Amino acid sequence: MMNQTAIVTGASEGLGKSLAIEIASRGINLVLVALPLSGLPELASFIRKNFEVKVNFLEIDLTDAESYPSIFEYLRVQQITAGMLVNNAGVGNWSWFEDMNIGFYKKQIELNVITPVLLTRLFLAQANADATSYILNVGSLGGLFVVPKKQVYGATKSFIRYFTKCLQLELHELNVKISLLSPGGINTKPELLVMNNKLKGISKATIMEPGDVARIAIDGLLKGKKEIIPGWINRLLVVLNSLLPAGVKDIMIRRRLASVIES
Ligand SMILES: NC(=O)c1ccc[n+]([C@@H]2O[C@H](COP(=O)([O-])OP(=O)(O)OC[C@H]3O[C@@H](n4cnc5c(N)ncnc54)[C@H](OP(=O)(O)O)[C@@H]3O)[C@@H](O)[C@H]2O)c1
Repeated sequence: MMNQTAIVTGASEGLGKSLAIEIASRGINLVLVALPLSGLPELASFIRKNFEVKVNFLEIDLTDAESYPSIFEYLRVQQITAGMLVNNAGVGNWSWFEDMNIGFYKKQIELNVITPVLLTRLFLAQANADATSYILNVGSLGGLFVVPKKQVYGATKSFIRYFTKCLQLELHELNVKISLLSPGGINTKPELLVMNNKLKGISKATIMEPGDVARIAIDGLLKGKKEIIPGWINRLLVVLNSLLPAGVKDIMIRRRLASVIES
């Protein structure tokens, strides 16, 4: 992977920042993408100082239709062929459906669904067929479990699950490794930390730190794992989810999350 370049979307904070640092620690160059004024120049110089990699960054809004071709035009001008795409940028929510406005849902669907699909299409078009290319699509266990207050978010992550699994089938004869990352809760920001601290028992034990998720994700991606579920408790919950009847799951989810659903 030396001299390879990875595009990481939503790299300014949270899981994306940890993924960028993890990728740099493996000697892979970076193109960081996030909104303007989100700290990308500082992150780029931190990574350059600590790892022997080249770091470029693009401050753009990924819900803007012109942003997708502009990333690949930038790479073409810089004579960079990206060998890895990390579709991480995404927006979550924890709110009743009627509590968010239509503008929020439009952005959420654009960022979580349209952006990864179009970037994947453009990434594959420029990929070097003679070298292995890697795509990491950041999904969520929320795309598998039906959880109250995550109605649109969970649906966008179900989309990513289907999209990724279908591409894995379509492209299995090509030199492309595509992984779906399905994390449970991650302590990526203070408000999530506060919410996650209210959880109890198994629900609390499912929560992980972004650095740990990033390390497991990049290990899995480079090994060509089709789905990466960080944490053994999360993997156990996925198995239980496939075995239990829907009615029983509904009761369990309501009981386990009672303290946070009402907050
Ligand atoms: N946190 C969790 O518990 C959890 C669990 C499972 C899956 N995930 C998934 O992991 C991924 C990262 O989540 P996170 O918690 O790390 O999120 P986060 O801390 O909110 O970071 C989101 C990143 O996306 C960027 N971004 C947001 N809107 C953008 C836009 N319009 N254009 C370009 N970049 C934009 C943000 O940039 P700015 O800094 O400029 O806003 C930021 O870098 C998401 O796909 C999420 O669904 C998270």
